[in-house]
Amino acid sequence: MPSQTAGPLEPRVLLAAEEIDATVARLAAQMSARYRDGVVLIGVLRGSVPFLADLVRAMTVPVSVDFMAITPYTPDSGRVRLLKDLDLDIAGRDAVIVEDIVDTGLSTAFLRSQLARRNPRSVAVCTLLDRRVRRVVPVEIDFAGLEVSDTFVIGYGLDHEGRYRNLRLIAAADVELLAADPDVYVPVFYGQKA
Ligand code: IMP
Ligand code: MG
Repeated sequence: MPSQTAGPLEPRVLLAAEEIDATVARLAAQMSARYRDGVVLIGVLRGSVPFLADLVRAMTVPVSVDFMAITPYTPDSGRVRLLKDLDLDIAGRDAVIVEDIVDTGLSTAFLRSQLARRNPRSVAVCTLLDRRVRRVVPVEIDFAGLEVSDTFVIGYGLDHEGRYRNLRLIAAADVELLAADPDVYVPVFYGQKA
């Protein structure tokens, strides 16, 4: 087969919509089997929203939905902070943190420890993508979608500076091109300049 060199504006599609859908269906089936009495799904704003929305509709047990938001971890702050807390009380209930991607694990480890203090029956983690090669703190992942390598990804909730979240696919993106122009992939994915 002739080798094909992808140009910088031909981003590599890592997961087509059909592969995402199949992964969501698998995770929804696993969680429905595990939580027959229902479960609280906790979306981590904002990247998990498309995944969470598809997941809940594929589940076949009663589901409550709530959200949390945290500041991203930065090496200078050295910690993660809670920006938006739950509205629901999870005491005595089974709760699942729903993430778009677990990267260093710092966000998920922080959220898990926050939720564990609230006397839930159980706390689990479900993530669409798992980038284990970048892990800084160990995180137990109960429902794992797909493993990805150390390349920045966009689409299906995953953003760069707020862009590209509404793509139906997940693509590997060039961070240097994005740093120079955050809209660099707009023509290729949306057919126009933002
Ligand atoms: P962690 O605390 O390093 O595990 O980071 C988790 C958060 O960083 C994720 O929930 C994402 O919002 C964001 N993130 C990590 N990797 C990527 C990526 O490749 N694309 C977009 N967002 C990412
Ligand atoms: Mg996130």
